[in-house]
Amino acid sequence: MDIALRRMRAEDIPQVIEIEQEAFSPGWVGTPFRRELNSRYTRFLVAYHPDDAAGEDRDTIVAPHQSGSADESLWGRMLTGVRSVFGMRPDSEGEDLAGYVGIWLQGDQAHITEIAVREELRGRGIGELLIIGTLRVAYEQGLAEVTLEARVSNFVAQRLYDKYGFNEAGIRKNYYADNREDAVIMTTDPIHTAAYREKFATLQDNFLTRYGEIRIQI
Ligand SMILES: CC(C)(COP(=O)(O)OP(=O)(O)OC[C@H]1O[C@@H](n2cnc3c(N)ncnc32)[C@H](O)[C@@H]1OP(=O)(O)O)[C@@H](O)C(=O)NCCC(=O)NCCS
Repeated sequence: MDIALRRMRAEDIPQVIEIEQEAFSPGWVGTPFRRELNSRYTRFLVAYHPDDAAGEDRDTIVAPHQSGSADESLWGRMLTGVRSVFGMRPDSEGEDLAGYVGIWLQGDQAHITEIAVREELRGRGIGELLIIGTLRVAYEQGLAEVTLEARVSNFVAQRLYDKYGFNEAGIRKNYYADNREDAVIMTTDPIHTAAYREKFATLQDNFLTRYGEIRIQI
């Protein structure tokens, strides 16, 4: 899969707004990305098509939480970074963004505020990649769990979260302003337990087997 993950930059905002408007209902109040991007309590990631010509000098990176046996996993061996791409490409002009995720770093939780993939690119693992990136941010920040709200009718999103071990943790009544729809709260088990780490390692290995090498920098 020719797709990579990196932090959102200011010049990505117009494309991210395009994806946001396509994904959410007209009544949705858009995220003030420019303000949020500068907050220490938020993290935004974008999935993009890398320019391979600029990536010749890539370094392998292993996230801080990966150690011991995790490094020997398929994921540990194949995970690569795109530091040099950023150095050689000062803006994202011409770079197509495929999706994004917004994360609040709130107490001991990573709270997904928005996640969306361009409509024509859905069903190809990009949403999954964004969830993997979110979990890696949570590990990197030493957080305990990842949580979010989803429309009770959003079966596709709930299936994605369920796959990554998010469990139903409650209902927020009339949560969505546009149609007063309820939200289901979905939260992972504590991510530092051996059981969750093992589940996440397996999911990442399966992802790589299915979609091939990816590049990620969170
Ligand atoms: C939810 C969303 C981000 C998923 O992104 P995606 O790139 O299409 O998802 P992926 O291809 O990575 O699929 C990952 C998993 O999601 C679930 N899924 C994806 N598409 C599905 C579909 N059409 N039907 C059922 N489950 C689906 C599956 O569990 C899938 O895993 P599998 O392939 O092993 O079955 C995307 O549909 C989207 O942008 N929707 C609009 C915005 C939105 O609803 N955001 C969520 C707000 S809570």
